[in-house]
Amino acid sequence: DGFAAEKLFNQGYSYTYDDVIFLPHYIDFPTDAVSLSTKLSRNISLSTPCVSSPMDTVTESYMATAMAALGGMGIIHSNTTPPEQADAVRSVKSRRVPILSNPVFKSPDSLIVDQFDDDSLPCVIVTESGTATSKVLGYVFKSDWMSLSDKEAKLVDYMHTVDSKISVPWNYDLAQIDAYLKQQDHDFVLLEKEGEVVDVITKQEVERVKGYPKLGKGTVGSDGKWMVGAAIGTRQSDRERLEHLVKAGVDVVVLDSSQGNSIYQIEMIKHIKQTYPELDVIGGNVVTMYQTQNLIEAGADGLRVGMGSGSICTTQEVCAVGRGQATAVYKVSSIAARSGVPVIADGGISNSGHIVKALTLGASTVMMGSFLAGSTEAPGAYQYKNGYRIKKYRGMGSLEAMTKGSDQRYLGDTAKLKIAQGVVGAVADKGSVLRFIPYTMQAVKQGFQDLGASSLQSAHDLLRSKTLRLEVRTGAAQVEGGVHGLISYEKKAF
Ligand code: XMP
Repeated sequence: DGFAAEKLFNQGYSYTYDDVIFLPHYIDFPTDAVSLSTKLSRNISLSTPCVSSPMDTVTESYMATAMAALGGMGIIHSNTTPPEQADAVRSVKSRRVPILSNPVFKSPDSLIVDQFDDDSLPCVIVTESGTATSKVLGYVFKSDWMSLSDKEAKLVDYMHTVDSKISVPWNYDLAQIDAYLKQQDHDFVLLEKEGEVVDVITKQEVERVKGYPKLGKGTVGSDGKWMVGAAIGTRQSDRERLEHLVKAGVDVVVLDSSQGNSIYQIEMIKHIKQTYPELDVIGGNVVTMYQTQNLIEAGADGLRVGMGSGSICTTQEVCAVGRGQATAVYKVSSIAARSGVPVIADGGISNSGHIVKALTLGASTVMMGSFLAGSTEAPGAYQYKNGYRIKKYRGMGSLEAMTKGSDQRYLGDTAKLKIAQGVVGAVADKGSVLRFIPYTMQAVKQGFQDLGASSLQSAHDLLRSKTLRLEVRTGAAQVEGGVHGLISYEKKAF
């Protein structure tokens, strides 16, 4: 009944996730017996197969802390200066809670009015010299200055002074911080690392996160810190960028290119493996067996798969190259598995079914942009449009992002004319990833149960042994598989 993947994907068609459907198999275990633990790259294990994309509207330190707390991983984008990117890595590694308020440090004499033009700033910490490393004197909350009419007021005039018991060590987890706040009856606490205040954690934030599904231990490295990745390019200047990132403690680097099979990337992989043998390097993007072979031979510890499948991508239209994502994931994984190199299915994920398909077709993780971009943890503030609460989401090959500096992912070194390979748009507010990713993973587990696969390895084995069968869905079958025939409906997954 149905087709084996080997037969289905060798008929000259480029299939996307929606084109194909698995036939159910046999269930002999409960949903909770399904394990989604996996590998991101040769030496990095994750308990949740989710990775956030290195895009400037998706992954900065806030998203990366949340992804690590969920057992996944965030890849910090490189559309910033190398020191800024390295700071984002440090920020992830300087806490063990998925909370980030990016406090600003000022000296007592600073004028209050100058502090609060940034909407997202909750609080200013007043320290002796105005740096994170000097003695903390007090703090001023946003509400303190909003009601202020005296434009000449200094922070020192309005600050709440702190006693000595206002900070906890950086590696306190949520339960420890919660207990401390209750015990001390404080509204907030400072996280301190080696004499430096790294963040301010408010009671409100702790209460918010406590209301989400319970978190496991997260993705923690051998140093006891959360693991985090970062994207780099393949130019000479990226070797310097990499130095900054390595010093900051980055755990894995992703070579960010839409067509990874190039002499530049192969040389960069070799350089990294020679200079930092302990650091895992993920190559890509690739969609063919030939590209895969080349990057594995060069020494890639992981591969990112997808070309033009992303929601904001126009690469296939502009350059006429790419591949349907289901076919690409299957083809690349079938070669990469022989060398034990894990594959990241990058782009085109818009529901939990797509994740089940990507992971069953051979990927070890999925990388997501639009799926995460509307979350609390994505960079940028929410806006309102036609009654919807939205966040901006843009392709890194869009003119807007390239103007900020991401052009090397899409341009040759000498290109003078910029051609966009992506668009700028917006996505709907989805709330916190700490809430919707656990629900999404539960849905993925149910999909695995229907397939009779209790782990990613077992799904891959069932596919390769031709036990799992698939079919292509006709246009009408796809319509039938979605919600249809209703005058209106409310789409709510949980
Ligand atoms: P999703 O579908 O998750 O896709 O939003 C995210 C992935 O899309 C890729 N990406 C781009 N591809 N032009 C492209 O052709 C772009 O401007 C662009 N920006 C991101 C990238 O692989 C990302 O992870």
